[in-house]
Amino acid sequence: MKFFIDTANLQQIAEAQAMGILDGVTTNPTLMAKEGISGADNIMNHYKAICHIVDGDVSAEVMAVDYEGMMREGEIYAALDPKIVVKVPMTADGVRAIASFSKMGIKTNCTLVFSAGQAILAAKAGATYVSPFIGRLDDISFDGMELIDQIVSIYNMQGYATQVLAASVRNPLHIVKCAEAGADVITCPLSAMTGLLHHPLTDKGLAQFIIDAAKMKG
Ligand code: G3P
Repeated sequence: MKFFIDTANLQQIAEAQAMGILDGVTTNPTLMAKEGISGADNIMNHYKAICHIVDGDVSAEVMAVDYEGMMREGEIYAALDPKIVVKVPMTADGVRAIASFSKMGIKTNCTLVFSAGQAILAAKAGATYVSPFIGRLDDISFDGMELIDQIVSIYNMQGYATQVLAASVRNPLHIVKCAEAGADVITCPLSAMTGLLHHPLTDKGLAQFIIDAAKMKG
């Protein structure tokens, strides 16, 4: 399972990359705005800066909601760097844009997916990734993990090539459950990734090893 970081913060991306476990980055307009990025030139430069830090795929989300606008924006993003994946919302125009990008050999990530039916459409259109949102389903008392299980099972059964990119992953348990479900990728904040590191018995054991290592040094 690949690990993508869900942020536009360059410092956090660099920190995850330095851990040696990062496979890519996902962004969205909310995450870009949070970093104070505005204006076409700054947006392009920011995506280029992200691509410079990471080795893997970098999702850049279109802001247009109409087919022509999505195509225009997506082609500009895709020309920035081969790592760029054009992120497109799950709408009729979005599905049409994904199908067109797919024919052009441009990688896509279908976002804002909340049902298995939407995930089937994304796969039929040829999306490289589909992004079902776990946390936002949990927020409204639906089990986000059930959706991941269902999509993984349908994709395996149907032989779809689209990779399941579990998004809106908020904590370490989500990550473990996604690994169990067979998700291809998770995207999450740095805090959820580093949360996997911790266990009280690790801390206790390390404290004892440090004491005993000091004794060995004499
Ligand atoms: O990038 C999409 C998704 O990961 C957003 O997560 O926590 O805002 O629901 P969240």
